[in-house]
Amino acid sequence: MKLVLVLIFLLLTAGPALAQGPGPDELFKQGKDIFNNTCAQCHRANGEGLPNTFPALNKNPFVLGDPQPIIATVLNGRKGKLGQMPTWKDKLDDGQIAAVVTYIRHAWSNQAPGVTPAMVAALRSK
Ligand code: HEC
Repeated sequence: MKLVLVLIFLLLTAGPALAQGPGPDELFKQGKDIFNNTCAQCHRANGEGLPNTFPALNKNPFVLGDPQPIIATVLNGRKGKLGQMPTWKDKLDDGQIAAVVTYIRHAWSNQAPGVTPAMVAALRSK
């Protein structure tokens, strides 16, 4: 009987945490690795980019603003006046894109809230 109660307790406490998937801290840590392996070659590990070539992501109002255009830029890439931002939708899954966007919004001096894999999934299917 005691064991059953313990199991019910564990389910009630651990269940919701598991259902939510990785929390913001885990996404941030995972995103740091993804950033350093896939984005830093252009945007630099310190987020400062290269003048007139790769935009700085640190203290960048676009990166700190509405999350949807950021997620869309990472998913689909963008050709702009600085050049071509590659597309990542075939190389990174929803969780990985959520992680790297969470990272760039909170790394260096940036202090914007993270994004979730569900937000990426919603934009990917558009
Ligand atoms: C091959 C170089 C390259 C790589 C790798 C790269 N980017 Fe970019 N990125 C660019 C360029 C160039 C632009 C600017 C495009 C333009 O002129 O609009 C850009 C733009 C951006 C922007 C929009 C910035 C703004 O101010 O509008 C974000 C956000 C971004 N990149 C995030 C990332 C992330 C996250 C990764 C890794 C998953 C990544 N980039 C990898 C070259 C790169």
